[in-house]
Amino acid sequence: MVIRSAGIEDSRYLFEWRNDPTTRNASLNTDEIHWEEHQKWYLSVLKNPQVVIYIAEDIPAESSPLGMCRFNISEERESAEVSINLNPEHRGKGLAQSILHDAIEVFTTEHPRVIDLTATIREENLPSMKIFVSENFVPQHSQDGVVQLKLNLKD
Ligand SMILES: CC(C)(COP(=O)(O)OP(=O)(O)OC[C@H]1O[C@@H](n2cnc3c(N)ncnc32)[C@H](O)[C@@H]1OP(=O)(O)O)[C@@H](O)C(=O)NCCC(=O)NCCS
Repeated sequence: MVIRSAGIEDSRYLFEWRNDPTTRNASLNTDEIHWEEHQKWYLSVLKNPQVVIYIAEDIPAESSPLGMCRFNISEERESAEVSINLNPEHRGKGLAQSILHDAIEVFTTEHPRVIDLTATIREENLPSMKIFVSENFVPQHSQDGVVQLKLNLKD
C-alpha cells in the first residue's frame, strides 16, 4: 500500500465515497453533497495548505483507491483534526488501521510542528472508535453522542 497526496483526479472518488450512506451516517453533516458544491470545495481545498488529503492505494494501483485520510490543520498550526473514509468496496477488510497509521506517519513527517491530532467520532461508529483507539487516540469527552479524541504526538 502507498500513501500519496490527493490531486484533482481524485475528486470523483472522494465525492462518491462522501455520499455513500454509511459515510453520511457517520458524518456530522449527513446531507447529500451535490457535485458542483463538492467540486467548488475540493478545488479550494487543493489550494489550501491547511487541508491535507492523502489517498491510500495498492501498488500497483490495480483497482480504485482504498481510501482517504484528511488532516485539517488549525490556525496556529499546532493541531490537526483527522478523518478517514474508505472506499465502500474496501471496507470491512481490516484495512483502516494501517491506512490511518501510515497516513499519520506521512503527515507528521511533512508537518513536524503539529503537536497533537484530534478526531470527532459518533459514539455508535464502533469500527472508527476501534481504529482510532488502536492508534493511541484517547477519548476526551462526549457530548450528544459525539466523542472527541486526542493523540499527543510529543508524548
Ligand atoms: C470507519 C471505517 C474507516 C472503518 O474501516 P474498515 O476497514 O471498514 O474497518 P475494519 O474492517 O478494519 O474494522 C475496524 C475494527 O472494528 C471492528 N468492527 C467492525 N464492525 C464492528 C461493529 N459493528 N461493532 C464492533 N466492532 C466492529 C472490526 O472487527 C475491527 O476490529 P479488529 O481490528 O479488532 O478486528 C470505514 O468503515 C469507513 O470508511 N466508514 C465510513 C466513514 C467513517 O465512518 N469514518 C470515520 C469517521 S472519522
